[in-house]
Amino acid sequence: MIIETEALTKLYGKKTGCKNISITVREGQIYAFLGPNGAGKSTFIKMLTGLIFPTSGRAEVLGKPLGDVEVREKLGYLPENFKYQDWMSGQDLLSFHASLYKLDRRISESRIEEVLELVKLKGNEKYKIGSYSKGMQQRIGIASSLLCDPQLIILDEPTSALDPIGRKEVRDIMVELKKRGKTIFLNSHLLSDVEMLCDSVAIINKGSIIKEGPLDTILYEKVTLEIHADNITGPILQKLGEIDKDMEYERDRICLQISGNEETASIAELIINNGGRLYGLIPHRETLENAFIRLIEGENYD
Ligand SMILES: Nc1ncnc2c1ncn2[C@@H]1O[C@H](COP(=O)(O)OP(=O)(O)OP(=O)(O)O)[C@@H](O)[C@H]1O
Ligand SMILES: [Mg+2]
Repeated sequence: MIIETEALTKLYGKKTGCKNISITVREGQIYAFLGPNGAGKSTFIKMLTGLIFPTSGRAEVLGKPLGDVEVREKLGYLPENFKYQDWMSGQDLLSFHASLYKLDRRISESRIEEVLELVKLKGNEKYKIGSYSKGMQQRIGIASSLLCDPQLIILDEPTSALDPIGRKEVRDIMVELKKRGKTIFLNSHLLSDVEMLCDSVAIINKGSIIKEGPLDTILYEKVTLEIHADNITGPILQKLGEIDKDMEYERDRICLQISGNEETASIAELIINNGGRLYGLIPHRETLENAFIRLIEGENYD
C-alpha cells in the first residue's frame, strides 16, 4: 500500500481538524479528498507529509510510519496557496529545491530539464516567477514537487486558482504521471476535474469521511434514462410505469430511473414491440457534483 491510515485524528485544542480517517491508497491510483472549506482536507495532507502530528490513530506512507525522514525524500508535495519569491527565475527555484532534496549536481541538472519538459515550461525557466501566469506558477510548483522523482505525489488543490486551460494543463500532467506509474493524492473542490481524473475519492465533511470508494460507488446507483419517442401507447406507459412509478412523461419525452444500462435494450424492445417510434435513448449517470451536494446536504440535515 502507498498510503494506509487507521482512525487518524487531529484536534486543534477543542477544534476538530479531522477525525477517525481510515483509508487505503494503492500504487498507481489517483485518489482525491473532496470536501467543503474547513472540512479537514489540508489537515490530513499535513499529517501525511509529517508537517503536523496526529492526536491519535496511526498511518503508514510508503510502508513507513508517519514522519519517517527517508520517506520524505521520496515524496512530492505541493502545498495549498503556495507563493514563491517573485524575483527568482523558474531555474533558480528548481535549483534551490533540488539542493533541499540534496540532489547531486549532475543529477539535479538532468532532473530539472526533465521536470521542465514534463510541465511544459521548457524555454521559460530563465524568466522571473513574478512574470509567470497563475497556470505557469502552478506548473513550476508541481515541477519542484517532482524533482526527487517521487513515488507518491501529494497535491493540495492543484487546480483551484486556474482558468479552464490551466486546469486542463495540470490535469494532463497528472495523467502523464499516472502513466509513469506514480501514485497521486490530491485535495480538490473542482469536482469535474476529479471526475475526469480519479480512481477513488473520499468525501469529507466536518472532519469525518461520509463516503469513500471507487468513483462508481460514490455516484447514485440508478441511471436516469431519457427516452424520445412518439406513438407512445397506453401499454407502453403502463409497462414503463411498472419499472419506475415516478417516471416523467410529457409529449414525446419520457424520463425514468433504471437500475443499469442493461435495462436500456429491453426498454427499446418494449417501445418498438408496442407500436412506439423510438428516436433516442439517453442514459444519464449522476454527476460527481450532484453526488457531492446530495451527500453533504444530507449530512447537514442530520
Ligand atoms: N493550525 C490550526 N489551528 C487551529 N485550527 C486549525 C488549524 N488548521 C486548521 N484548523 C481548523 O481545522 C479545520 C480543518 O481545516 P483544514 O485547513 O484542514 O480544512 P480544508 O478542508 O483544507 O479547508 P479548505 O478547503 O478551506 O482548504 C477547520 O475548522 C480549521 O479552522
Ligand atoms: Mg485546505
